[in-house]
Amino acid sequence: MKQANSDVINEFGIKNLDEDHQAIFHYIEQLQDLVNEPKNQAYAVGILERLLSFFLAHVINEEQQLQQYLPTNIVDEHILLHQSELVLLDKSIKSLKVKLTANNIQTIADQLNQEFKNHIYRYDRNIIQKLIKVKRAKL
Ligand SMILES: [Fe+2]
Ligand SMILES: [Fe+2]
Repeated sequence: MKQANSDVINEFGIKNLDEDHQAIFHYIEQLQDLVNEPKNQAYAVGILERLLSFFLAHVINEEQQLQQYLPTNIVDEHILLHQSELVLLDKSIKSLKVKLTANNIQTIADQLNQEFKNHIYRYDRNIIQKLIKVKRAKL
């Protein structure tokens, strides 16, 4: 079943989105790891800045693919979700700049983890299924 899914994903040219999603969680793991590394906590801001620019590039790519195939109202709703997460990342960076503590890193890592799990495993999965349906129908 897993194999079938990844074949479908390859076939419809959305493998790159899937790889991006893995990378997003990897950034959050890096942030999480810093909670127990007091000497390295100064890197937290840099990790989030890289996540922000990575996420920005990802959503531009994802939105372009969605816009090509799906109705505007569905895509617009998803774009709003992306925008709210860009705001959340920006706020998190600002917060860490003024309060670089293990506690704050933990709070932000938890928040981002929850937000992106919900986004990627629920909303992205859903909308990518719709995208696959439409692409398949056009074959
Ligand atoms: Fe995504
Ligand atoms: Fe998305």
